[in-house]
Amino acid sequence: MNPVYEKIQSCFQSLSRQADFHPRAAIVLGSGLGDFAKQIRIEHIVDYQKIEGFPISTVAGHEGKFIFGKLENVPVVCMQGRIHYYEGYEISDVVLPIRLMHLMGARILFLTNAAGGMGSGFEPGDLMLIEDQIACFVPSPLRGENIGQLGGRFPDMSEIYDLKLRKMIADTAKELQIPLRQGIYVQMPGPQYETPAEVRMCRMLGAGAVGMSTAVEAIAAVHAGMKVAGISCITNLAAGMSEQKLSHEEVRERALEAEPKFRHLLSEAVRRAGGMDL
Ligand code: HPA
Repeated sequence: MNPVYEKIQSCFQSLSRQADFHPRAAIVLGSGLGDFAKQIRIEHIVDYQKIEGFPISTVAGHEGKFIFGKLENVPVVCMQGRIHYYEGYEISDVVLPIRLMHLMGARILFLTNAAGGMGSGFEPGDLMLIEDQIACFVPSPLRGENIGQLGGRFPDMSEIYDLKLRKMIADTAKELQIPLRQGIYVQMPGPQYETPAEVRMCRMLGAGAVGMSTAVEAIAAVHAGMKVAGISCITNLAAGMSEQKLSHEEVRERALEAEPKFRHLLSEAVRRAGGMDL
């Protein structure tokens, strides 16, 4: 068996023993957005460290857990804490949790993140619905032997972010009177923030937001046939676009401030997605 798939299978067996649960939707919570999990009627919590074979960095001392439960009657699995490429993991390990949640049964994936904003008029605290992405500055999570059990060798990426989900989220935001920007997300390798020159490049490429996660997760999910939606919380203006220097503390604080409206939008979107024929 493909060693990457073997690892996913062994994690799956370990996780299934601890959580007998079949989620419909999976949700990945970005930095500062972890409180969203409070909305869930929790049935199981499994620490990543308790899953045999799950990639845990000795460098990062990674903290994180899967939360299984019902959100507005929709069975969900929520990742509190994701795996970042900049921590030193193999790219196949970065997307292992996505594939694991797919194996548990999740067919819809909500990706969220904190990101730097560069779209015109964007301000810290804005939410941005991801329309498309640029992932060519980081390695492909599909690199290496193809895992035929998940999908084909050359998957189409012309609609990574599902159009029906995007429309539903945009309509939901309008109804809830939550302003929602739309734009392209570009993933950079990190962990350093971008230089102003890199930000200028990203703007020329048409990006609205920049971050260090999400795009590779979305690729792995689409490869496996999941329907994907993504929302960025703009925590700062990208480097060089304001006087302010970038800091992780600032990013976390802005994400916490935006959390209530973000939580409101996401929980209603998950509820509606639960009833959609995708
Ligand atoms: N760049 C990259 N990642 C980020 C940023 C940023 O400006 N803000 C929050 N995450």
